[in-house]
Amino acid sequence: MRKGLFVTFEGPDGSGKTTISTNVYQQLLTEGYDVIYTREPGGIDIAEQIRRIILDPKNTAMDVKTEALLYAASRRQHLIEKVLPALAEGKIVICDRFIDSSLAYQGIGRQIGLDAVLAINEFAIEGNYPDCTIFLDIDPLEGLSRISNRHYRDRLDRETQEFHMRVAQGYLEVLSKYRHRMTVVDANRPVEDIVKDALVVILKRIESNV
Ligand code: TMP
Repeated sequence: MRKGLFVTFEGPDGSGKTTISTNVYQQLLTEGYDVIYTREPGGIDIAEQIRRIILDPKNTAMDVKTEALLYAASRRQHLIEKVLPALAEGKIVICDRFIDSSLAYQGIGRQIGLDAVLAINEFAIEGNYPDCTIFLDIDPLEGLSRISNRHYRDRLDRETQEFHMRVAQGYLEVLSKYRHRMTVVDANRPVEDIVKDALVVILKRIESNV
């Protein structure tokens, strides 16, 4: 049974998602909330192993449907092993990426199609959608310019600009499909302002949960 609150952060590469979500997590901890932080793909041993396979730049031969299935497999294991038990204990779970990433990156970015990617993910998550999703909105070209400065770029970071532009388009489709649980936050601002806005959304959602 789910008693806690499942919060996910989404956005294109270079949107500052990890910085923002970890800051939000720290603030909630400081304010005394029972909260855990995790990420996808990964968050537990089996899923981190799958992450290494997916993101290894050497795996250029990976088929796009294999990639989508690996993300869905890692999602399922992470959900079963970590997210659902924490929610059953009444915790707030802050997760860096979840199903919306697969819809945008594999569904639209890889051109598999939203419905096909949704189908395998529904098999994986069995209705366990996030309660609340913060979408960090940034110009995809700005995001790409930020990741181009990273000293290590994974297999997805190395994708073409066209791919990343399709992902941005994919997120727009996802946003219109799941308007009820997604909030867009302008990520072209100082970290403190973005964190503040994200916290307002989450705290409001916590209040409506009690
Ligand atoms: P990260 O850099 O946010 O940790 O995510 C790793 C990469 O994996 C990032 O480029 C987004 C991509 N990704 C997908 O393509 N599909 C997914 O379902 C998830 C969770 C991530």
